[in-house]
Amino acid sequence: MDLVVEGRAYIRGKLGHWAIGIEDGQIVKIARTIRGAERIDLGNKLILPGAIDPHVHLRDPGLTDKEDFSTGTLAAAHGGVTTVLDMPNTLPPTISLSNLLEKKEAIAGKAWVDYGLFGGCTPKTEIEEMAPMVVGFKVFMGSSTGRLLVTEDSDLNKIASRVKRTGKVLSVHAEDEDLIQFNEEKTLTDHLQNRPSAAEVSAIHRLSRLDSKINICHISSAEGFQALEAYPFTKEVTAHHMILDRESEGGAYLKVNPPLRTKDDRLTLFQAFVSGHIDMLGSDHAPHTIEDKEQEFDTAPSGVPGVETTVPMMLALMKRGTLPIEVLIRAMAERPASIFNLNKGKLEVGLDADFMVIDPRSISRININDLYSKCNWSPFEGKEAIFPKMVFVRGESVMEDGELTGDRVGRDVIAAR
Ligand code: DOR
Ligand code: ZN
Ligand code: ZN
Repeated sequence: MDLVVEGRAYIRGKLGHWAIGIEDGQIVKIARTIRGAERIDLGNKLILPGAIDPHVHLRDPGLTDKEDFSTGTLAAAHGGVTTVLDMPNTLPPTISLSNLLEKKEAIAGKAWVDYGLFGGCTPKTEIEEMAPMVVGFKVFMGSSTGRLLVTEDSDLNKIASRVKRTGKVLSVHAEDEDLIQFNEEKTLTDHLQNRPSAAEVSAIHRLSRLDSKINICHISSAEGFQALEAYPFTKEVTAHHMILDRESEGGAYLKVNPPLRTKDDRLTLFQAFVSGHIDMLGSDHAPHTIEDKEQEFDTAPSGVPGVETTVPMMLALMKRGTLPIEVLIRAMAERPASIFNLNKGKLEVGLDADFMVIDPRSISRININDLYSKCNWSPFEGKEAIFPKMVFVRGESVMEDGELTGDRVGRDVIAAR
């Protein structure tokens, strides 16, 4: 055995004192004590599965003034995220085998945590060719950053059945382009008026006619959440849609798609999440530079960073007693692993040894100076958070007390098979 870590570990749905034996990056033994190996005794600190963020935009290649695979995965590790699934609206967009290979080459050797790549869907996308090398597919039904837009039901239909044959999940940005308006915007409320809940609801109903494993990204409205109850889709929620709303201070910095909505929407989503009715926590980490965000509201790009802060804020809510530990772990690790078919997500023999160590007493406030994301701002500055003390990716220590400790061990979850 290469390493044994011992502490209060979350095993089979509860915390208990366990020793976890690791060999060749995987968990090989879980017992009350394990002898004869290099041991790390964590005392009363908690050992939790590493988080899997099913939705990030790390901007590599082509938009690396905003983020790149190195800074983005460093930010992930700092926030307890040991696997990121990266979206295809990079430059060029990941819509053909050659674009995908180009992206793989651009990011090779840069990652501090494991990753999977999404293929972007357009009517011309080489779905079948890319399938063996992507973790899933993504389609944008409403326009946002980048040009990957599919608005016609006939195209969506063809895309969904082609994706179905690959066995992969189709993650959807569900806002109906026909119900989005492009009036001039000066405030978050104007942005919300242009992108009403009805656009989300309509997109969800249209998707219900498709035959594929569909995952709804960033559910953002109470009505959208209610509409989803009728359908078998899996769903993601972001921290920003649960913590911020159109009344929040930040102007264009908080411009994001789908938009921040009303306090009512926010509280409904938070309640749904806390009570375990949303499958996955996904940050939709969408960094833009300060210069991008300092433009006039109307021309500033949409998107907020979050991969580094989402899990730490949720850990603080867990410590405060607002969020049950089993709900958080299911949404940040177990469900993403099972939905995207990853050999991860639990502290269990045979799975990758991806985990974080936290001290629940060390609550801090998010401070931009501590963050690794290249964009250098956060919509959550000042919020309470618990940053992990240690983060391990396949048994290798990557971070300790917010400082790098290891090598760039991150690899593609698909290529590793
Ligand atoms: O606000 C958003 N930003 N929504 C998206 O769908 C894309 C993202 C980005 O890539 O900036
Ligand atoms: Zn989206
Ligand atoms: Zn996104």
